[in-house]
Amino acid sequence: MKWFNTKMVLVVSLTALVSISACGGGDSETAKSKPVAEAATETQAVADNSVGAELYKTKTCFTCHGADGKTPILPIYPNIAGQTSEYALQQMQDITSGARANGMTAAMKGVMHLVSAEEMKILADYVSTFPRRAGGISMAADSEGAKLFKTKTCFTCHGADAKTPLLPNYPKIEGQSAEYALQQMKDIKTGVRANAQTAAMKGIMHLVTDEEMEILAKYLFNLVQ
Ligand code: HEC
Ligand code: HEC
Repeated sequence: MKWFNTKMVLVVSLTALVSISACGGGDSETAKSKPVAEAATETQAVADNSVGAELYKTKTCFTCHGADGKTPILPIYPNIAGQTSEYALQQMQDITSGARANGMTAAMKGVMHLVSAEEMKILADYVSTFPRRAGGISMAADSEGAKLFKTKTCFTCHGADAKTPLLPNYPKIEGQSAEYALQQMKDIKTGVRANAQTAAMKGIMHLVTDEEMEILAKYLFNLVQ
């Protein structure tokens, strides 16, 4: 949390600095810009020391997941911004070991030999601090997706808002890429994805048809404020 806040402060400070300098002239402007400039210099050093931010760049995570973790280069790649740290870590470990080998995991596995166990932990903590996706449409409580989310018991594990999972190693799924979510539901249902805690979810998936999974995937994608 600290790293991310620091980074935000830095961005805000720099933006303020630029807009103040852009205003130009006047004694009062000069007086105002001084403390801002000092603050920016101070936070810069801390931000540069953020191991998570550095790893996220040097280990090329951003190339597939986006600099903000929620603008993946392909719609079938996941949004990882603000995911629970426990879940994110488990998935990184499983993709690296091959315990999770469904969907597009091969793309990511290719870089994971460059990432140590300790670095994975730092990265999981780091991405968990990213703000979740926002700006979706609010879904009516009686929409088909909302109904399925209740009747198929999805809420019991993922939370009524789909972002307060029952256990920390269960994923947040609101605002997830729809194509990615659909693929994961299908793979958990068929057993193609059978890593970590998937068995818990597999138990109910015989009650969910392909068509219902599509509705649920779209519902989840739009379930952001
Ligand atoms: C070459 C592209 C690529 C790179 C580089 C990459 N990933 Fe991924 N990542 C993926 C794909 C694709 C998946 C989903 C695999 C699937 O389809 O099942 C994924 C899955 C994940 C997941 C699990 C998401 C979930 O909801 O289950 C996490 C966490 C993650 N990546 C973090 C990282 C981190 C941290 C890095 C940098 C060390 C990284 N990734 C580098 C492509 C990439
Ligand atoms: C009994 C608990 C449980 C129920 C019920 C459940 N899930 Fe899950 N779900 C999980 C767990 C646990 C995982 C992650 C598995 C792992 O550890 O890799 C998961 C994974 C997912 C994923 C993939 C997330 C990702 O980032 O890769 C999606 C999408 C999903 N669930 C949607 C649903 C929907 C929709 C329903 C209702 C039809 C549902 N789940 C019902 C426990 C559950």
